[in-house]
Amino acid sequence: MPQISQLFFKTAIICLLIGLAMGLQMGMSGNHTVIAAHAHLNLLGWVSSSIFGGYYALNPAKAVKRMAMVHYVVYTLGLIVMLPALYFMELGNVQLEPLVGIGSLVVFAGVLIFAVVIFSKEIAVIPEARRA
Ligand code: HEM
Ligand code: HEM
Repeated sequence: MPQISQLFFKTAIICLLIGLAMGLQMGMSGNHTVIAAHAHLNLLGWVSSSIFGGYYALNPAKAVKRMAMVHYVVYTLGLIVMLPALYFMELGNVQLEPLVGIGSLVVFAGVLIFAVVIFSKEIAVIPEARRA
């Protein structure tokens, strides 16, 4: 599997573990205050990151492009800013709202980069055996 897919899946599973823990905590306490942090940690963190990882695994020619790494870094940075800020905002720290907004915009920028990757032309990778 390409390195970029490994990175996306490692990020995704960390998000899922934290997202599930948050869900369990909500379920057990009966306090659903952090519902949006839980939903987006699972959907932006686990589901979307896994889809990105799967896409690059299916398109190895695109996985080695610099744009793929830029996509990973920008998107993941967005998650790291957005999700903890959202969690603590839902717990009452309303002053964190601008940080949630900035993180969301960075996430959006990451997805725009992914759109560029999707629409970019795929260059065929010639297997080593055929090159020789
Ligand atoms: C151990 C597993 C999980 C537990 C215990 C759990 C628990 C919860 C709880 C207690 C809520 C609040 C429900 C409400 O107040 O209406 C919730 C909402 C939600 N969860 Fe989970 N969850 C789990 C896994 C997941 C996963 C894996 C995803 C997505 C891939 C997910 C997506 C969502 C979404 C989108 C909402 C918001 C639903 C709405 O707006 O009505 N959850 N979850
Ligand atoms: C930059 C990205 C995103 C932003 C800024 C965003 C923003 C929001 C906002 C403001 C809400 C309403 C929350 C509330 O009523 O308390 C919401 C709810 C929701 N969003 Fe997103 N969203 C994003 C991405 C996504 C993605 C990619 C998915 C699915 C794959 C998703 C699924 C949901 C769901 C299921 C809900 C209802 C659950 C809840 O109440 O938290 N969102 N989102």
